This record gives sequence, structure tokens and C-alpha cells, in this order.
Amino acid sequence: MVLLLILVAFSCFNGVFSLGRKELLSLKRLTTTPAPARFSHTPKDGATILEMKHIKHIQKGLLTLDVVRVESIQSRIKNVVSGRVESSQARVPISSGIQLQTLNYIVIVTLGIRNLTVIVDTGSDLSWVQCQPCRLCYTQPEPLFNPLVSPSYRSVQCNSQPCHTLQSNTGNSGLCGNNAPKCNYAVTYGDGSYTRGELGRDRLTLGMTPVENFVFGCGRNNRGLFGAASGLLGLGRNDLSLISQTSDVFGGVFSYCLPNSDSGTSGSLILGNDTLVFKNTTPVSYTRLIPNPQLYSFYILNMTGASVGGVPLQSPSFGGNGVLIDSGTVITRLPPSVYTCVKAEFLRQFTGYPSAPSFSILDTCFNLSAYDEVNIPTLKMQFEGDAEISVDVTGMFYFAKRDASQVCLALASLAYEDQIGIIGNYQQRNTRVVYDTKQMQVGFAKEVCSFS
Ligand SMILES: *[C@@H]1O[C@H](CO)[C@@H](O)[C@H](O)[C@H]1NC(C)=O
Ligand SMILES: *[C@@H]1O[C@H](CO)[C@@H](O)[C@H](O)[C@H]1NC(C)=O
Ligand SMILES: *[C@@H]1O[C@H](CO)[C@@H](O)[C@H](O)[C@H]1NC(C)=O
Ligand SMILES: *[C@@H]1O[C@H](CO)[C@@H](O)[C@H](O)[C@H]1NC(C)=O
Repeated sequence: MVLLLILVAFSCFNGVFSLGRKELLSLKRLTTTPAPARFSHTPKDGATILEMKHIKHIQKGLLTLDVVRVESIQSRIKNVVSGRVESSQARVPISSGIQLQTLNYIVIVTLGIRNLTVIVDTGSDLSWVQCQPCRLCYTQPEPLFNPLVSPSYRSVQCNSQPCHTLQSNTGNSGLCGNNAPKCNYAVTYGDGSYTRGELGRDRLTLGMTPVENFVFGCGRNNRGLFGAASGLLGLGRNDLSLISQTSDVFGGVFSYCLPNSDSGTSGSLILGNDTLVFKNTTPVSYTRLIPNPQLYSFYILNMTGASVGGVPLQSPSFGGNGVLIDSGTVITRLPPSVYTCVKAEFLRQFTGYPSAPSFSILDTCFNLSAYDEVNIPTLKMQFEGDAEISVDVTGMFYFAKRDASQVCLALASLAYEDQIGIIGNYQQRNTRVVYDTKQMQVGFAKEVCSFS
């Protein structure tokens, strides 16, 4: 028993000894968010977000949604397994969707003449908004998009290219009946959530840059994991994604910097190769996209290693299946062997703190309410070509309770070794992530997200 444990522990290390590196996380700042009345020491400089009770409630539900998303991605994968010069740029603020009950990130775009708040999703292709007249729409604070009052809106016809593309991508024939000139669409996200309606075209304006005749779904029957956002912007690699549709305009390149959801600041989503942004970052390190014709819409990378607090880990799973990077998954999922190593090394370095019960999918939790600040060993993930994501200190811990009495390592294990790992948005905070679909690479640089 003991021998076995030692062997397991040793199999995690590279045999390279390295000084542990930790970063300071101030808990004081995080606990300055509105504390419930029963706390007598409510700080003065409370940066207001949501009431604690509200957040607690939402967060529990939201992580459940994250589980469903990962199951859905895994099931999509399982189901599948049975150039031009860029000329323009567009820059829009990207911010946490927490106010809209989602842990996804949102941007405001202009569709026709309407400003709409939509989720940014690199894990799917077709963009859509909830549309009037609606048969079944979830509640959203913004008025529904009404194609009838958008002068530049056009229905996509059945016998047109986008309709054929949709059909060949989804294998969904029969969306056009004999007497239906309009192209209907149905996207199901595998977990029961869906959007259905008709395909339309309108002018999409991103920042100051208009994209004419943008094809999107005018959704009349929508249900699922979208919080209260008005729709979704699909940034996947397939034909109908924003990136594919605008490859003439933006050159198939985009990047984002996702801010810490507690900070109240925005980051930026940039379409096109805006090199100015790299003045505020460390040099970008690139890794190649792993081609997978059957999983074409995902961005899949070759993860070759990881370290915790500067201590390199070893696992046979590195360099195997590939991992996908996704803006729409919250918590990073690692193969069990990798997760076990990360957790063991983290616990070895983060000692002396009282533990707390597990929270949802997070099994490594602490009660840190007695501390003003703690030193946290941070995670680095390495990718083929010497690219590296250095997880920001704010991406290491998930605050299940605002008073820091249940703070959890923000990583989770996949169920099976052969499932594909997913790098979630929590671990991408304060990193400039560059997607280059032309040169088939993804790059990372450290950046403190801001929109300016
Ligand atoms: C849409 O947002 C832009 C930028 O914030 C603003 O200038 C414009 O007035 C808004 N348009 C509408 C119709 O609300
Ligand atoms: C962006 O532009 C820079 C400078 O013009 C160039 O070196 C780089 O290769 C371009 N990157 C992409 C992803 O197109
Ligand atoms: C990942 O990179 C490693 C090291 O360069 C290489 O040995 C391995 O074959 C790569 N895996 C894939 C799936 O390309
Ligand atoms: C967390 O720790 C504090 C201070 O050590 C203690 O007073 C409190 O009861 C603990 N909370 C929980 C939920 O265990």
C-alpha cells in the first residue's frame, strides 16, 4: 500500500528538482465584495458586484452547467469518432457574463441596428440570437431581435450556399420543406439544449467594423445553457462561424484576453491581426493546431507537460490525445493521471491550511477565511513548440463562498484517461490567446486584461 503510493507519487515527477514558485493571492481584496450583513467587519472599499447569497446560488448552478457542457463536448467527440490577406481589425470589450447568470464571457455586437449581448464561444460555429416572433425563448433583459424592423435583414433561401453548407455540416437535410423557401436551422448542443429558427443575413458590426450579409440563426425556439444572453457568437473553425465568414476581412485571426470576473474590468476580443496589442504583453509563444478532420470546428493543441509551483510533472498522457482550448468551458478538465499529479504536487506545496468540503466538481478545497493573503503555487501548461500558458493566480482558486471559507483548486479530472482534456476560460484569465486559423496555430502571452 505504502510502496504503491510512493511509486504513484514518483511517477508524477520529472526527476528535475526545482525551486518551488508561488504567487501571492490577496484574499482581502476578494472578500471585500459585498459581505452579508452578519459580517461585522465589512470592509469600506467594497467593489460592488452581486450580493453574496445570489452569487453562491448562481455559482452552484453554473458549475453544474459546466459539467453538462463538458459531457456534451465529450459526446460530440465520441459521436464523430464512430487564404487571403487580412485587411481589417475590430476590437470590442469582452467581459464576464456573471451579471447574466453565466460564467461565460460576453461581448456586445450590433446586428442591423440593434446592440445585443452575446456569449463568445470558440467551441461552436453558427452564431444566433433570440428572434421575434418567438415560439419559445428564455428570458433575456434586452428586447428580442426583430427582423421585420431591421432594414438590412434578409432571409436565407433554401437553395442558397449557406443553407447547403449548414445541411452538409449538420447532416441535417429536410430542413427545407417543398413549400418552404426559407432555410430553417436546428442546432442541438448534445445535452438537450438547442436553438431552432431560420437562417438570416444582416449587417454585423464589431466595434467600428461592419460585416455585411453576416449569416446567423434567427432563433425562435431556444433553450439551454445561455444564461440571459441574447444569443451566441460562434468562433469555431467550421464554415458558418464568424471566423470563417470574415476570413476575407480579418484574415482568419482573432485573439482575446479574458478578465477576472470579480474585477469588474473588461478585456478585449480582437478580430484580425492587431499587432499593437502585443506591446502590452510578454512575447507570444505559438503552438500548432492539431489537425483532426472529424473534429474540425474545435481548436485542439498538443499539451506536452505541466508544472506546479515550478516543479515539472510527468504523465504518459502528455502528448497523447491533444487537448482542446475552449472559451465556453469554465473549469479546465485534465486526464485523471495528470489531474492526480497536479493535485498531489499542489497539496505538497500548499500545506498547513485547513481543508473544506468539496464543491460540485471541485474536490480540493480549503477554508482560508482566517487569512488576508496566501501564497499559491501556480500551474503552467506546456505545449508543442515551447508554448506555455502560465495560469494567472486568479485562475487557480474558485471561491465557492465569498468569505473564503470554501476556496477550491479550480481544476477537475475527466472521468476517463482517453477523454480529451479541455482548457477552460478560468485558466485563460489575463492571458492573450491568439487563434490563427490560416497558419494553424494558437499563441499565448501574459497580459493584464483591460480595454483601452
Ligand atoms: C449601440 O452601442 C454603441 C456603442 O456603445 C452606441 O454608440 C449606440 O448608441 C448603441 N446603439 C443603440 C441603438 O443602442
Ligand atoms: C501579424 O502581423 C505581424 C507583423 O505584420 C506578422 O509578423 C505576423 O506573422 C502576423 N500574424 C498573423 C497571425 O498573421
Ligand atoms: C506532441 O508533441 C510531442 C513532442 O514534440 C510529440 O512526440 C507527439 O507526437 C505530439 N503528439 C501529437 C498528437 O502530435
Ligand atoms: C473557517 O475558518 C474560520 C476561522 O478559522 C472558522 O471560524 C470558521 O468556522 C470556518 N468555517 C467553516 C465553514 O468551517
